[in-house]
Amino acid sequence: MKYLIIYTHLNPNSFTKAVVDEVEKIAINKAHETKVIDLYADEFNPVLKFPDIQYSFMDGEAPKDVEIYQQYITWADRIIFVYPLWWQQMPAMLKGFIDRVFTNGYAYMYEESGPKGLLAGKSVQLIINTGNPSELLERNGLHTAVKKVNEEGIFEFCGMTAETIFFGDVAMGTDNERKEYLKSIGEIID
Ligand SMILES: Cc1cc2nc3c(=O)[nH]c(=O)nc-3n(C[C@H](O)[C@H](O)[C@H](O)COP(=O)(O)O)c2cc1C
Repeated sequence: MKYLIIYTHLNPNSFTKAVVDEVEKIAINKAHETKVIDLYADEFNPVLKFPDIQYSFMDGEAPKDVEIYQQYITWADRIIFVYPLWWQQMPAMLKGFIDRVFTNGYAYMYEESGPKGLLAGKSVQLIINTGNPSELLERNGLHTAVKKVNEEGIFEFCGMTAETIFFGDVAMGTDNERKEYLKSIGEIID
């Protein structure tokens, strides 16, 4: 299968980078054709501007960068997002990627009966690192909120299936806990 990994972190020494390297290694070992997008290294511009709205809703031309990233999405059978949780949400860099690349007419459209996802047949995995322990985010409902917004609000809306994996307590936890997370990626990436 074709696996596209979309990585969002500014620090090459972060745990998120260690996760993305492991995901890539395992995907290649499992004989998947694998590509990685590093949004910070690409210096992706996440700010939605008027030409984006013209493209999405007014028959305008696709901005060149958007066109290239849409080709990656079209190519992929599975898209694996790896990122840290910032203020309970994806980093603004990745949110801007979704805003600009998952456009009306490409990722979804509206019919008389309502919205229709145009990316059916693709699957999404979100691997999200959190500073807070998973037990806390389970208990206070924030894991559920994050899953609902991302899975239902974005990816299922576009016709894809989606699942979320949380690695909790990433900053304050022990080295052993972080190693266990890295080990578990072999089971997450099939
Ligand atoms: C701007 C910012 C906001 C953050 N907000 C949250 C948050 O809402 N919930 C949480 O659990 N951790 C939060 N964190 C902690 C990060 O999720 C944590 O530092 C990260 O997962 C550690 O992985 P890293 O080494 O790859 O950065 C935040 C960190 C930053 C820098």
